[in-house]
Amino acid sequence: MENEKILILDFGGQYRQLIARRVRECRVYCEVRPHDMPLSEIRAFAPAGIIFTGGPHSVYEPDAPDVDPGVFALGVPILGICYGCQLLAARLGGEVVPAQTDSAREYGKTETEFDTASPLFAGLPARSVTWMSHGDFMARAPEGFSVLARSAACPNAAIGDDRRRFYGVQFHPEVRHTAHGTELLRNFLELCGVHGDWTMGSFRRRTVAALRERVGDGRVLLALSGGVDSAVCAALLAEAVGERLTCVFVDHGMLRKGEGDAVEAAFAGRGMNFVRVNAQERFLRALAGVRRPEEKRKIIGAAFIRVFEEESRKLGAFDFLAQGTIYPDVIESGGGAAAVIKSHHNVGGLPADVHFREILEPLRPLFKDEVRQLGRELGLPEALVSRQPFPGPGLAIRVLGPVTRKKLAAVREADAIFREELAAAGLSGAADQYFAVLTDLRSVGVMGDGRSYDRAVALRAVTTEDFMTADWARLPYELLETVSTRIVNEVPGVNRVLYDVTSKPPATVEYE
Ligand code: XMP
Repeated sequence: MENEKILILDFGGQYRQLIARRVRECRVYCEVRPHDMPLSEIRAFAPAGIIFTGGPHSVYEPDAPDVDPGVFALGVPILGICYGCQLLAARLGGEVVPAQTDSAREYGKTETEFDTASPLFAGLPARSVTWMSHGDFMARAPEGFSVLARSAACPNAAIGDDRRRFYGVQFHPEVRHTAHGTELLRNFLELCGVHGDWTMGSFRRRTVAALRERVGDGRVLLALSGGVDSAVCAALLAEAVGERLTCVFVDHGMLRKGEGDAVEAAFAGRGMNFVRVNAQERFLRALAGVRRPEEKRKIIGAAFIRVFEEESRKLGAFDFLAQGTIYPDVIESGGGAAAVIKSHHNVGGLPADVHFREILEPLRPLFKDEVRQLGRELGLPEALVSRQPFPGPGLAIRVLGPVTRKKLAAVREADAIFREELAAAGLSGAADQYFAVLTDLRSVGVMGDGRSYDRAVALRAVTTEDFMTADWARLPYELLETVSTRIVNEVPGVNRVLYDVTSKPPATVEYE
């Protein structure tokens, strides 16, 4: 299994992460690396197959991104996607030309015919929809290649040489709009001879052994935010090095109802040192009277670092600082092998005057859903593992305007009611993120015989794949009614509940 790796060479394509996700979904380990990765490193990586991503360039531009031609002599299967397909064709003697007319350019869903006798298209229907996005096309396939797919505008939508196991597709199999894309990728992986046995069980065993070796009798410090990544990182390190790990959990008082205790409970009995720092007063004081969102974030980030520094100084010298960096961060920062010291996820900024010999980032190869899977494997509670994203500054940016203890209590209670009712209705999966916001809006209401002049709570629930864009969730009116009634009755100082029906863009998920 150690040798079952797919190498994804990146030509600047916007879908590079998606390709890696799809390969991992087939339980095959893969890494995204820059297209100019030296041949010696490619050899050392020993891939079972190579995928070239798409990219915004044209292969006939003078400085078009290229690949070391030695990859074609490694004897491993290659799949080129879009630009990758054109590069493969151009380098092996085919011809790529810019589309002369608009009708020859293809963007979007396209009916495509496949040659299902080819192992790349085995088991797929003879015709289906693919996602195209290209301005160049292959006028002529290289020697030894046959044409394996066609669309109305593109007579050479896929090419392949079964003898060398080189394939190229003009469309994007990694995008969901391509109806049978994952099957195509699975066929390619089969051609690479991999078995699909990359599991979190095997990752856990290997990583624990590697961590034990690397840490030796050194001491490790980890800042626990309560988020999924740092929690799983802590559980993995606890298994590897036990009491040589110290986790500092800074409770800034901006967490949701019950969250601080849940984090503490999840780590009790794991044999590590767990320090919960109650810094609520300090954060509240630092935030007093602050209205501007960015200022709130900066204050919280800075205070977090200061508390963490103070605690680690009290605890003595550490050899390692552990961080929950995950693979999407690695890919987005260039995908190189060198350690990228990212700001403490969720809260921003590494401690400046705490010194460590090394940084440990055991989750670096994993995608978010793999991290969750590993958390389950390590026995973390489901509530922590499947936790929805929660911003580092926490409830401070869900209380609009200046933060006070009273307002925090109100938003915490309203949020808990919203979550409880969604769970009770079996609808927790209906949105990818949902929460309550205490707005700065005050309005008139009637309660019993009296008039009220209180705040409005906004409910936000969104569906999204990547949080870059999001749609508002169509939650049932009955559920919204129950939540609204409960909030107005149970949360002091709130007399109105609003449901947010704005997508992102133009709005964002959070309010501040
Ligand atoms: P926006 O509001 O930018 O949020 O649409 C997109 C996603 O990012 C989360 N978010 C944060 N996460 N620190 C974080 O770790 C932050 O400061 C932060 N601000 C927003 C937000 O909850 C949503 O999932």
